[in-house]
Amino acid sequence: MVRSFLKDTDFTPLEAAEIFELAARYKATRSAGIIDVLNSQSWGVLFYKKSTRTRLSFEAGLYELGGHPMVMYADDLQISRGETIEDTARIMGRFLHGLVIRTFGQDIVEKFAKYSGIPVVNALTDLLHPCQSYTDMFTMTEFFSQGKANPESIKGKKFVFYGDTACNMAYSLALAGAMFGVEVVLCGPEEFRPAPILDELFSEVNLTPTWSFTSDPIEAARGANVLYTDVWVSMGKEEEKAQRIKTMSPYQVNMDLFKVADRGAYFMHCLPAHAGEEVSQEVLDSPRSIVFDQAENRLHVQKAIVSYLVKKNRQLGK
Ligand code: CP
Repeated sequence: MVRSFLKDTDFTPLEAAEIFELAARYKATRSAGIIDVLNSQSWGVLFYKKSTRTRLSFEAGLYELGGHPMVMYADDLQISRGETIEDTARIMGRFLHGLVIRTFGQDIVEKFAKYSGIPVVNALTDLLHPCQSYTDMFTMTEFFSQGKANPESIKGKKFVFYGDTACNMAYSLALAGAMFGVEVVLCGPEEFRPAPILDELFSEVNLTPTWSFTSDPIEAARGANVLYTDVWVSMGKEEEKAQRIKTMSPYQVNMDLFKVADRGAYFMHCLPAHAGEEVSQEVLDSPRSIVFDQAENRLHVQKAIVSYLVKKNRQLGK
């Protein structure tokens, strides 16, 4: 079976640490130009949903690895006129060497992986966003080990995610955090607490959960090393906008939370941000905010993920 990256736990913690080492190397040597890992391979990058960071970082990253990125939108393909995922995947497997997908259900990326026979990378589903969570953990390692990207440096750090804790980012951060020994506190309104699927994701793998849930934003922030948030109105939830903003307003990341957090605490956000909603403008613009370093790291980490998959699949004779 060809290896893909559909869930955060598709790599072991040791493999993820190797990926971080590679990402740090790619970051340090980017100005040297193309590293020919892909040898002119064609990789598809398929979007069912909007994107800025994912689109840019994968297109640039695949090119920088010596590959040919082919960006596609589901609306432009026959899939939007009823061709099945199974047949689309089989066709893609005949033309492409790998595929990156942003879509709705986790079952869609799983079907593409099953029927295409090529490595598939999950670039966000409604369930998980593993490229982002790996990037976030990598970014933390950089900031907690003075640029050395040492995974040991984030073990035991208190990481708080605010907002809708029943969303893809919360679940991916809970999984990736556990892989690196990070204490992940998911903090939001009771009605947005994690669903049982998060326990199911842990039960599929040999990984001890390190996450907890609280609805108390100040208690969550006490002594925290990272305060993190995501948009309150995710893609596809637009009709719930007014209600979500009202329910989540006590969970805005602002300076009140930083007053009780660790003195060296950082602010992170997967972006795009809506200043005045999930984060105050003051926090977003403060020296504690590392959101643009975080965004840039998507490029380096995803290049490392793709390279690692290609290497492992070659070793498997795929
Ligand atoms: N964080 C993230 O995935 O950004 P985009 O939606 O812009 O790709």
